[in-house]
Amino acid sequence: MTQAFRIAPSILSADFARLGEEVRAVEAAGADLIHFDVMDNHYVPNLTIGPLVCEALRPHVQIPIDVHLMVSPVDRIVGDFAKAGANLISFHPEASGHVDRTLQLIRDCGCRAGIVFNPATPLCHLDHVMDKLDLILLMSVNPGFGGQKFIAATLPKIRAVRARIDAHVAAGGQSIWLEVDGGVKVDNIAEVARAGADAFVAGSAVFGAADADGGYRGVFTRLRAALASV
Ligand code: DX5
Ligand code: ZN
Repeated sequence: MTQAFRIAPSILSADFARLGEEVRAVEAAGADLIHFDVMDNHYVPNLTIGPLVCEALRPHVQIPIDVHLMVSPVDRIVGDFAKAGANLISFHPEASGHVDRTLQLIRDCGCRAGIVFNPATPLCHLDHVMDKLDLILLMSVNPGFGGQKFIAATLPKIRAVRARIDAHVAAGGQSIWLEVDGGVKVDNIAEVARAGADAFVAGSAVFGAADADGGYRGVFTRLRAALASV
């Protein structure tokens, strides 16, 4: 299968005092997307960044900004992120009482829409909304923090979602990206790709790359090499 793999560094693990520089550096190193983790200290027990930071970073990169909302409620903040230059916006179904409405709202704002599954969230939330999705994001850690260990039970879940997407496309449906978020590293990215993912969030793996190992360019070379073996 010929496949485009996308790597999305999560700026959660970047140096927040130098965010503009950090996003420029990962774009130059080969990032396909900027993964932008939004936490509200309510839906998840951590607090990060919002639309003002998205707007400030937008002119620093050409690549799409992939906003992962870990906030509840969801709808009120969607338009603000669209205005701030977000290209993709995804949210957790538990955090939105009205999944179909939120997906439509994201698309009406001109962004691509995604739904996010925590490790223990069942895939039944896909049942009636496949035609409204541009992205399915599977969490392979519990949301809230970078640097956690990949949960292996995500692998069969990736395979299940891949089967659903392939069946949807075979029936004439639109293409949908399958992104995996949490604990993705050089040593497991190939296994995640083989299970069916085509987009990979990598926070600590990218921003924690040692200068001695070639920094961000070095880790992208190793991630791409691992993906080339798939
Ligand atoms: C966790 C975030 C992830 C996280 C990934 O809630 O959604 O994007 O930052 O970080 P790593 O790659 O370090 O697990
Ligand atoms: Zn994320």
